[in-house]
Order: sequence, then structure tokens, then C-alpha cells
Amino acid sequence: MKVLVPTDGSSHSMKAVARALELAEQQGAQVTLMTVAYFGGDYLEEMPPNIREKLGDEARATLNKAKAVFDAKGVKVETVLATGLMPANLIILKAQEGKFDRIILGSTGMNPLEKVLMGSTAAKVVAHAPCEVTIVR
Ligand SMILES: Nc1ncnc2c1ncn2[C@@H]1O[C@H](COP(=O)(O)OP(=O)(O)O)[C@@H](O)[C@H]1O
Ligand SMILES: [Mg+2]
Repeated sequence: MKVLVPTDGSSHSMKAVARALELAEQQGAQVTLMTVAYFGGDYLEEMPPNIREKLGDEARATLNKAKAVFDAKGVKVETVLATGLMPANLIILKAQEGKFDRIILGSTGMNPLEKVLMGSTAAKVVAHAPCEVTIVR
């Protein structure tokens, strides 16, 4: 079973990481962790290089934090760093191209403004994923 785990460093996404580790340990799932460096707004092309670099560094740190959970248990894991305006679209594309069997992600993420039951990334992935989706609360 190929499992894709999109992670933004939020506590919910780290729960999804833990769930994927269980599946790797118990069922030999092949897990790929994915972080999208999110360049919000309409001005991706015009964004100053130093800001792009900073967002890239943040995303790499987020990915490494999730990978460390697998490394601590000596479980093999792949990582993917992507860049774009819409994390959900890139996650869905990756699931299609990589022929993943399941996506495991958190119900909410880093948006501090409102306490919603399901974030917009999670809702889009549930609606459009080409495979099974597990939402972790
Ligand atoms: N930039 C991202 N890269 C990878 N995964 C993400 C990203 N943003 C969100 N996710 C995944 O989607 C889950 C839900 O987040 P989201 O729907 O964005 O909620 P919120 O609106 O609170 O930010 C997160 O727990 C994480 O698993
Ligand atoms: Mg979000």
C-alpha cells in the first residue's frame, strides 16, 4: 500500500504522520511525506527571491520534523517538497501521478483565524482525491 501524508507541521498533521508510521510498521505501507511551500496570493512570479527562499526553508524544516518521526523508529520514508499556490491541487496531482492508494491528512492545519471542523485543504482533498482518504482529528 502506498500512502501519501501531506504535512504542514500542524498538530493535526503530525497525528496523521503518527498514523502513517503505524501503517508502515504494522502493514509495511510505503509512506511518502509531502509539504507544499505555500506561496499565497497571486504574485508568485513577482515574489522577491529572499522571501521565496524563506518559505522554502520553512517547508523543508516542516518536512524534516515529520521525517524525524520515522527516522527515530528506523522506518524508511520518502519525502517530497513541492511549491505552489494551492496545496490541495498539488497533493491531488501527486496522488494521481504516484498511484497512491491512500492519503492521510489532518482535519485542520495552520490557519489560526477560525476554528473550523475541516480546513479548506482537507475539504478539497476529500472531494477530489483519486484514492481513499483518511482524515485525522
Ligand atoms: N502546505 C501544505 N502542505 C502539505 N500539507 C498540507 C498543507 N496545508 C495543509 N496540509 C494538510 O492538510 C491538513 C488540513 O489543513 P488545512 O485544510 O489547510 O486547514 P487550515 O484551514 O486550518 O489551514 C493539514 O493537517 C495537513 O495534513
Ligand atoms: Mg492550511
